[in-house]
Amino acid sequence: MMSDVIPVVTVDGPGGSGKGTITQMLARRLGWHLLDSGALYRLTALAASRQGVALNDEQGLVAVARSLDVAFRPTPAGEPVRVILAGEDVTAEIRTEQCGDGASQVAVIQSVRDALLQRQRDFRQAPGLVADGRDMGTVVFPDAPVKVFLTASAEERAQRRHLQLKESGVDVNIAHLLDEIRARDERDINREAAPLKPADDAQVIDSTGLSIEEVLSKVMALVSQA
Ligand code: DC
Repeated sequence: MMSDVIPVVTVDGPGGSGKGTITQMLARRLGWHLLDSGALYRLTALAASRQGVALNDEQGLVAVARSLDVAFRPTPAGEPVRVILAGEDVTAEIRTEQCGDGASQVAVIQSVRDALLQRQRDFRQAPGLVADGRDMGTVVFPDAPVKVFLTASAEERAQRRHLQLKESGVDVNIAHLLDEIRARDERDINREAAPLKPADDAQVIDSTGLSIEEVLSKVMALVSQA
């Protein structure tokens, strides 16, 4: 990956495919920066609700997206990056189903996506960037030398989410989670603005039945080859 442009590894895919864990580990191993683009859509939805901006108020949402006062604070290995909105730690809050659902709604609006575009590209800093999202390889970093599309069956993703929630003390019905995952997939895949799909030059990795280490070593192999 020797060139004078700053390298980027894009990891796109549906929610629950393991992207978040894989990209955090990958960025740590490479010593590169990390962009969690989903967090920006979640933060837009959260900030909108706090400012009383409705999720169908396009102009209002664009203004919220443009003025997001956000910082990502690195943490010791194994802990999630802290997400700070206007000085307040909202790391846990942006992970709720409600925020995810709001994010999925604001993400269908092209002007909101445009408002977040440059902010995402600004994360491309030396020595390199690992970018996690839905359109990292297709829209935001089309010139990335390594593009991964990470997927897993909806059933497996529902199970992973169920386990995750259980560990944090929340017991939700798995059939309900599966319905939600399918509904969000449907919206992400079928929207007009930057629909969820692999870039033509992306390597598709199906993580169903694979451990995190197995997926990570597949991605590391792609990075080493590039
Ligand atoms: O990855 P996530 O679950 O945090 O993403 C939340 C929502 O944001 C998801 O429904 C789709 C949207 N999103 C997007 O449209 N484009 C991105 N690059 C990242 C997320």
